[in-house]
Amino acid sequence: MKIIGVAASPRKNKSTNFLLEQCLDEANKTAQESGIHLDTELVDLAGMKINGCISCDACRKGLLCSQQDDFQSLIGTFADPEVVGIIMATPVYMGSMTSQAKAFIDRSVLYRRNGFMFRDKLGGVLTVGGSRNGGQELTIQAVHAAMMIHGMIVVGDGEHFGGTAWGNHPGGHEGDATGIATARKLGKRITEVASKFQS
Ligand SMILES: Cc1cc2nc3c(=O)[nH]c(=O)nc-3n(C[C@H](O)[C@H](O)[C@H](O)COP(=O)(O)O)c2cc1C
Repeated sequence: MKIIGVAASPRKNKSTNFLLEQCLDEANKTAQESGIHLDTELVDLAGMKINGCISCDACRKGLLCSQQDDFQSLIGTFADPEVVGIIMATPVYMGSMTSQAKAFIDRSVLYRRNGFMFRDKLGGVLTVGGSRNGGQELTIQAVHAAMMIHGMIVVGDGEHFGGTAWGNHPGGHEGDATGIATARKLGKRITEVASKFQS
């Protein structure tokens, strides 16, 4: 089984990427400790050109999209039946997800229109804000809503909504021990739930 993490910051190798790596690392560690076979992959949207959906309805005719941009290269990645979970990681922009995250999510409608391909996959969310309380949980809920539109099963960090991190922590994002702990707990929890589904 496989879990894919999507980093939806426009910036490469910044706080969102770091927190998602922490999350996936804990997912792998949990799988190893439980003797579960798990593959993880980090898909970084930074540097990719993914337009918003233009509602052309091409995807009603099959698993295809009329827009020739970088989303084309991702269609097969997420269609893999081995994928049991998707973790979306996004910075908080103006109290919600980035436009990169929203464009990716809107374009993912093609999986819904071709047999609800994300139905029963696990969905987790990790957010990073410049402020400690800058809308992390609200943003998580916005992404959760899209996951439910897909028929996915939403998973939190086992206690709260998911990963909530502070990019401008005085010690830098690497110094945000609380945020890192929530990201790692999300990775652990999604792996634990995935293993229950497997058995
Ligand atoms: C356009 C814009 C809007 C932002 N809005 C918020 C916000 O509403 N709340 C918040 O806490 N941080 C906000 N931030 C800060 C980012 O969430 C923060 O810098 C985050 O760490 C960026 O992630 P990255 O380091 O992976 O790029 C905003 C940043 C930008 C550029």
